[in-house]
Amino acid sequence: MNNNRFSVPSAELEKQTEYKEKVKTVLSSRFSLSFPKAFVHTYGCQGNVADSERIKGLLTEMGYEMTENLDEADLILYNTCAIREHAQDRVFGNVGALKKIKKDKPGLIIALCGCMMQQRYVADKIKESYRFVDLVFGTHVLYKLPEFIYRCLCTGERVFDITNSDGNIVEGLPVKRDGSFKAWVPIMYGCNNFCSYCIVPYVRGRERSRGFSVIVDEVKELVKKGYKEITLLGQNVNSYNKDLANEYRFPALLRAIDNIEGDFIIRFMTSHPRDCTKELLDTMADCKKVAKHLHLPVQSGNDRVLFEMNRHYDRKKYLSLIDYAYSLMPNLSITSDIIVGFPGETYEEFADTLSLVEYVNYTSLFTFIFSSRPGTKAAEMDDFVSREEKGKWFSELTGLQEKIAAKRTASMKGKTYRVLVEGKGRYDGYLSGRTEGNIIIEFPGAEDLIGSFCNVRVTEPKTWILIGEKAD
Ligand code: SAH
Ligand code: SF4
Ligand code: F3S
Repeated sequence: MNNNRFSVPSAELEKQTEYKEKVKTVLSSRFSLSFPKAFVHTYGCQGNVADSERIKGLLTEMGYEMTENLDEADLILYNTCAIREHAQDRVFGNVGALKKIKKDKPGLIIALCGCMMQQRYVADKIKESYRFVDLVFGTHVLYKLPEFIYRCLCTGERVFDITNSDGNIVEGLPVKRDGSFKAWVPIMYGCNNFCSYCIVPYVRGRERSRGFSVIVDEVKELVKKGYKEITLLGQNVNSYNKDLANEYRFPALLRAIDNIEGDFIIRFMTSHPRDCTKELLDTMADCKKVAKHLHLPVQSGNDRVLFEMNRHYDRKKYLSLIDYAYSLMPNLSITSDIIVGFPGETYEEFADTLSLVEYVNYTSLFTFIFSSRPGTKAAEMDDFVSREEKGKWFSELTGLQEKIAAKRTASMKGKTYRVLVEGKGRYDGYLSGRTEGNIIIEFPGAEDLIGSFCNVRVTEPKTWILIGEKAD
């Protein structure tokens, strides 16, 4: 389809297959009695989780066994996130702590990748001040992992590759999925929106969509293997195949996946309000397998702030989407992301966010205090409000949402919901699952229900979670 510009030449991929074999040979001669072990930790969003599943797939094919235990690892890899300063600080802290482990185990390979590394100033800092780190690679060269590992193993040199590009699409990488009944399926990569506060377009490259039939085939395969929940991923799924004819765009993709035979649920994220159409909402309402949950990040309820954020919609457009969505799906669960304290935001403007939150009646919110990201437009804007003041606004917002959520969950008492059971609950003998609306529900039940759908009646709604009992 339209992906040629982003395809990696097949000769390059064949080269990596050769490297994979070479690494395997080196490792099997160095580790004759046991398998070499790799510890992979992921920060950030589900897009990163999906990348890590490919990293683990490649490592497994090279002969590594995965471990959850840092101390027994022969390779430690952190897949990092750059979205907020706090996220980066945590990574620097955790990487610093690896220095001692490396000292005690000189053969250990320490690798860092992901969005944070795609920023030159970060890679430079690692190069100069974290000399025990062996390998740093950015988001556009993940598929070259076999070559990088080979060079680390055989030359002993430090390897840095943060090649910048518009990005690529590499199909056919092995995937070692974390779960056996929930799967992440990226449908597009990168972002073209350049919201003024956001680092993602700089570290993930231009928006590009995977092929329609490649995605449908992947989901078919997952359903055949028994996966019960498929989450379609992208920074802005609504603009999937934006340049192509209607029959290949996101609503069509949802319909095609909904038509796949089998008992499973479809989720997607994230939807950008700019590209969220009535057609998409109609499709959600029509498709039985699509969860009636919409994550539609608003960021702010004030038009001036939305304009400065470069979001390309206003309060009116957002609320008209919400009204339309509720008119089609009265029980729809809507969630959002909100940034508090964008540069220049006044309390009066923030109050517009509060009133919007009240109007929409969200199930839950992801709330963030603005974090200045070097290289973005917002980082250059004047910011007059103190951190302390922003903290107060933040608490006001979370306090309001808590009341809304409590009211929403209270209204669920006595009702029965279909739940995908995900694991053990917090109390002995309890299981934990999620409703279609993405609310956690815990109820007594046998562990063999994990990974299957189950009807659960709500007996005791708490603010953020529900307690229930199995119903027929
Ligand atoms: N593509 C998604 C968002 C991905 S990032 C979308 O546009 O909706 C997830 C969330 O992190 C964003 O929705 C935003 O609320 C928050 N975020 C991004 N950059 C931020 C920053 N610089 N400071 C604070 N929050 C930020
Ligand atoms: Fe960032 Fe905006 Fe792109 Fe979302 S749509 S990833 S917030 S630039
Ligand atoms: Fe973070 Fe990169 Fe995702 S910056 S939120 S891991 S796209």
